[in-house]
Amino acid sequence: MVYATVYVTARETQLLSGSATEQPVAAWWETAVVYQVYIRSFRDGDGDGLGDLAGLRERLPYVASLGVDALWINPWYPSPMADAGYDVADYRDIEPSFGTLAEAENFIAEAHALGLKVLLDIVPNHTSSEHAWFKAALAGDQEARARYIFRPGQGAGGDLPPNDWRSNFGGPAWTRLSEANGKPGDWYLHLFAPEQPDLDWTNPEVRSEFEDILRFWFDRDVDGFRIDVAHGLSKAEGLPDFGAQPEAPVHLEPHPAWDQDDVHEIYRGWRKVADSYEPPRIFVAEAWVSSNERLAQYLRPDELHTAFQFDFLRAPWRAKAMREVIDDASESAAEVGAPSTWVLSNHDVVRHVTRYARSQPGHLVESGWDRSRWSDEAPDIALGTRRARAAVLLTLALPGVSYLYQGEELGLYEVEDLPGNLRQDPTWVQSGYTDPGRDGCRVPLPWSGSEPPFGFSSQAGSAQPWLPQPADWASLTQESQERDPGSMLSLYRTALGLRATWLVGLTPVQWIDAPSGVLAFRRGAIECWVNTGSDEVEVADKEVLLRSVPAGAAGVLLPDEAVWFVES
Ligand code: GLC
Repeated sequence: MVYATVYVTARETQLLSGSATEQPVAAWWETAVVYQVYIRSFRDGDGDGLGDLAGLRERLPYVASLGVDALWINPWYPSPMADAGYDVADYRDIEPSFGTLAEAENFIAEAHALGLKVLLDIVPNHTSSEHAWFKAALAGDQEARARYIFRPGQGAGGDLPPNDWRSNFGGPAWTRLSEANGKPGDWYLHLFAPEQPDLDWTNPEVRSEFEDILRFWFDRDVDGFRIDVAHGLSKAEGLPDFGAQPEAPVHLEPHPAWDQDDVHEIYRGWRKVADSYEPPRIFVAEAWVSSNERLAQYLRPDELHTAFQFDFLRAPWRAKAMREVIDDASESAAEVGAPSTWVLSNHDVVRHVTRYARSQPGHLVESGWDRSRWSDEAPDIALGTRRARAAVLLTLALPGVSYLYQGEELGLYEVEDLPGNLRQDPTWVQSGYTDPGRDGCRVPLPWSGSEPPFGFSSQAGSAQPWLPQPADWASLTQESQERDPGSMLSLYRTALGLRATWLVGLTPVQWIDAPSGVLAFRRGAIECWVNTGSDEVEVADKEVLLRSVPAGAAGVLLPDEAVWFVES
């Protein structure tokens, strides 16, 4: 039986998954599938070539039709857009080019009416340099200045930055200011762009302000927050030098700017705010840390609920590496009673179709998937797509939470040939044009039609999308895939529907012995088999619930194929 939906009663489902007998029913946020909306590239409702709330509201039924449980919206607050909205000028309003606060409130209600929870993105490590606090700081207000990290420079005349930290986007993490008298003055810290000054989280005013911002949105029925750069808020006392001076930004090894123990106290406070609501609100951390043990510390019962499992995203398409990551992540999370949170793509990394379209390294890769280093190997998009189809069956079969990034359900690939003058990610300029940055995974979605802009805007005569789409996305539009039962979109819909029936609860993975290059595990009544190797593998001829290669053959697991079998 291929592509067939199987109906069972809720009771049978519980028994099959073991959830009725072995463990309590999971909370929604422990097993949710969350769809990430990168709002500026989702859908343009007002014709300016930039996605917005009107476009998102118009296509909410589409998101609901996928079978997901929640949405996470990238920052939608007023912003000068030095870093695509991660430079927030006002945390309690909506960016005018996206819409209004009233529209946002309507959107939240409409999503809820469709059964979708809504997660927002909070950016607590830094504000925009256009935020009222930073403007006051620059104008000489000492109280405002104490909310940021200003320091005198080193060397004669303070001409050298206060320490050796590098910005995550390239270049030094410090910018020097001119004082009111025109003379060079102190430096301020920005772990990202100069337009994103870091806040000083040792200042109690910063703490109470952010707890208040949480309440502002929880009072508007928001179900939770993704926490941007959750590992960055506390810096080591005295801001010591890192010492080694790598060219690349550092996230994944111990560094005095990242993952400091003091950060946990902040989240204990946030958890209390979230738990004071009925129903309690939830958090997911973006924390790039050096190990899963460190990650699990953010997930202790009085801290955050979930944290993205980035090792999974960094793993090459190799069974051994993936299995190790799955085991390590699951064990560390389980030790603190938290679910794992799987993610293959997001707005910061090369889309996984393209990652899997090149030769696979033998190790976990850097967070940017070595964007600059890979440029000389042409991607085999057909291969990457085939692997991406298998990868989503693997991901959705795992226990815990899954995040899907808009466009992956259409099989979009990274647009690597954007002209330099159109690139907007600050990484491009700050790296001295050596790292192309993240625009390639942020290209506006193709909805319909046979040529760009593929129905991105709902208004006739609209401006061109803010980044150009490749002409061959004609075969990847939502419209064309709706009609094709073999499309990526159809695969996602079918898989999500079957997951909701057959892969409920938090039943852990039970590995099955499998040949080299193959991942095989059981969860409840389902067996998931994934072949990352280049040879066909024989498998017992069991009942097939779903396979990633529609034309796959009985008793055989093709290269780069995944299959869900069901106990008959
Ligand atoms: C996070 C965001 C990324 C942003 C950075 C600075 O990593 O996901 O897009 O540039 O934080 O806020």
